[in-house]
Amino acid sequence: QQRGGGKAACRPPAGGAPLFLPPSVVWSHPVKAKHAAAILLAACASSALATDESPLVRPAFQVIDDYTIVVEGVTYNSWTDLAKSGYFDTEETHCLARPSQIAGPARGSATDCNFNNTSIESQYDPSNGLIRIPVVVHVIQNSSGTGFISESRVQSQIDVLNEDFQAIAGTNGANGTNTQFEFFLATEDPDGNPTNGITYSTNNSWFNDSGSYWNTLAWDTDRYLNIYTNSASGALGYVPDLPQGGIAGSNADRVVVLYSSFGRNAPLTPFHLGRTTTHEVGHYLGLYHTFDNGCGTSSCYTTGDRICDTNRENSPTFGCPGSRTSCSMPAPLDNYMDYSDDICMEKFTPEQANRMRCTIEHYRPDLASESSGNEPCSPADLVAPFGTLDFSDVTAFLLAFSGGAPQADLALPIGEFDFSDIVAFLGLFSSGCP
Ligand code: ARG
Ligand code: ZN
Repeated sequence: QQRGGGKAACRPPAGGAPLFLPPSVVWSHPVKAKHAAAILLAACASSALATDESPLVRPAFQVIDDYTIVVEGVTYNSWTDLAKSGYFDTEETHCLARPSQIAGPARGSATDCNFNNTSIESQYDPSNGLIRIPVVVHVIQNSSGTGFISESRVQSQIDVLNEDFQAIAGTNGANGTNTQFEFFLATEDPDGNPTNGITYSTNNSWFNDSGSYWNTLAWDTDRYLNIYTNSASGALGYVPDLPQGGIAGSNADRVVVLYSSFGRNAPLTPFHLGRTTTHEVGHYLGLYHTFDNGCGTSSCYTTGDRICDTNRENSPTFGCPGSRTSCSMPAPLDNYMDYSDDICMEKFTPEQANRMRCTIEHYRPDLASESSGNEPCSPADLVAPFGTLDFSDVTAFLLAFSGGAPQADLALPIGEFDFSDIVAFLGLFSSGCP
């Protein structure tokens, strides 16, 4: 399809120089090829359309009126249609939104949560906002159908992750810490196509956890949490390594869960409440077992599990003992990172939350977006620095409408561009997707 549709450049009503925005308001969408060209916003009244091709840059985005917004030759009949069209989609966000990098200037360093140390820092506190993680679940079954997991059971596992990581009241996870992580089945695959975030494969070797299935199945591991269900090599689940080892971005980066332990009412009692996945995702976000590296010492950020608000423990707790002593103290058997039965593990601690959020920031920086709300859109902007709507964005928006009297607006009264449109614009970037 021809970009621009052979249509006119946008000119001001009185003729003269084409009306373009200064370079400072160019939107750069580097992610998708179809958006590789810089996007220019330009506004002009319909009467101002000329019929010649501009020798200069043809505006990709022309606001003609509320029902005629032309983007690369495609006409959208409303602002909402444009926002819904996918034109602004990047791999991490959509609508009129930019991906929000986990924001803020000084965000600490990777040594705050490396293999050997945890440093609790306020910027990793859950109060900084919800971190949303797109998930793809690869269900692998064998040729007899063993390993099949329904879509609703997959969704139930995502629900359990959210209950556990957010300590949602009224659920099994209620006694834990709200880590402000949210998991959702991906809605867009790596090619930008719609998806339910689940893949199904039938392969006996892969079901037996052999055959390097991840080289075939993985979705960009920088940007998706890839969970596989199969026989998990005889374990309840595993990850190949903590992300601190540099696995992120490789095909092998994954969480593997035994199919019969996956989902809310999985068959494998007492590992049937979805906590195997909670535990493995804890590893995926950089947590050790509570018993790893033994009792350690009082230097609890650099020995044992590198966490101080989990009691020291020198071996796993199994089953569901009312209490157990290890390292001369009560074992942290209610922790998701111990080996207790599902019904008994019910918390991450605040310091584990801090370490996981540090891990996302420094070892999985492209995985998540942080947002203040629970909408699938993250905070947005028009011009760099991306990730926050600031004065320069409002300026850019105003300039787009400054070349005349566009018969376009975002809000009542229809037909002119006024203060209510600016308010509507600001609202667009805080209210999420249409
Ligand atoms: N043993 C597994 C691991 O080392 C997971 C243990 C999960 N425990 C449970 N109650 N589901 O990662
Ligand atoms: Zn483990």
